[in-house]
Amino acid sequence: EKGTYPHYMLKEIDEQPLVTRKIIQAYQNDNNELTIDADIIQSVNDTDRIYIIACGTSYHAGLVGKQFIENMAGIPVEVHVASEFSYNMPLLSEKPLFIFISQSGETADSRSVLVQVKELGHRSLTITNVQGSTLSREADYTLLLHAGPEIAVASTKAYTAQLAVLAIFANVTAASKGKELGFDLVQELGIVATSMEALCDSKEGFEDIAREYLATTRNCFFIGRSLDYYVGLEGALKLKEISYIQAEGFAGGELKHGTIALIEEGTPVVALATQESVNLSIRGNVKEVAARGANPCIISMKGLEEEDDRFVLPEVNEMLTPLISVIPLQLISYYAALHRDCDVDKPRNLAKSVTVE
Ligand code: F6R
Repeated sequence: EKGTYPHYMLKEIDEQPLVTRKIIQAYQNDNNELTIDADIIQSVNDTDRIYIIACGTSYHAGLVGKQFIENMAGIPVEVHVASEFSYNMPLLSEKPLFIFISQSGETADSRSVLVQVKELGHRSLTITNVQGSTLSREADYTLLLHAGPEIAVASTKAYTAQLAVLAIFANVTAASKGKELGFDLVQELGIVATSMEALCDSKEGFEDIAREYLATTRNCFFIGRSLDYYVGLEGALKLKEISYIQAEGFAGGELKHGTIALIEEGTPVVALATQESVNLSIRGNVKEVAARGANPCIISMKGLEEEDDRFVLPEVNEMLTPLISVIPLQLISYYAALHRDCDVDKPRNLAKSVTVE
């Protein structure tokens, strides 16, 4: 039930710190070490390439998951949109492992890929919020999100839960290969949960941003580099689906190859600058769009902040920034939809689980 909340979406955004803590607990053993099924670890250690298959928000989580798995565990990963994979199947490696990411576990596009790769005899793991869902039953292994039911059509807490579970999956795999990561993921995820709380307590700031940048605009761009780019894609999807504002996420470096032509006087451009490694370049991109009249809204991170930044996120481990940088984007989309009188929890033309191909 949504209790005192006006919308499920707002409630589910607020649940993210708690869900993150629940996930840490759910994946800890009696010695407080992160752990997953031994069978899964064995399959991962036996694979030469992971193929992540998903749709929409879950696909965006997969893009971040690829970085987690490659950086921590050192296994090559490809991420594919399920609906395209079925007819554009890439040449597969010798020992592929398929990971299906699906909040509902019922998405028909993803299921059709699962059916296809099972016929080929390949192993599969489903990361889902729903125990006993079709994708969970039909795959060899399941990792649960423990996010509790997600009712709002726009996915929020499932996305951050997917990221947390993918980070744990990557971390446990790395440990099983004897890799030293130099940080304690339990502790880092704890910091993430605390930072999420701080963001959920700063809602007015995001309502102000929504009013100022998005109350009447026709379009909006999200830019970022590296992980920030993937979070920008998710921010754009959130804004599109619930506020009907035409929104696109772009890699900062791609702008000058075409998209910058769309920047007009006053076009809102939300820029994420949460990673030291790309900070200078993304700030260069903000200057490029500002010089063409854009209205930039920079969301940065403590330690990287500059005077013109609109919001500064609390500092978390650089690899885990997507778990917190998405929250301002979720909240900005929520308030933009409210300002524009849209039905936040049940946007037009959309269903919570897409069971047709
Ligand atoms: C966006 C959204 C959709 C879903 C997509 C996949 O907010 O909810 O893009 O992420 O339809 O759904 P699942 O994860 O259930 O397979």
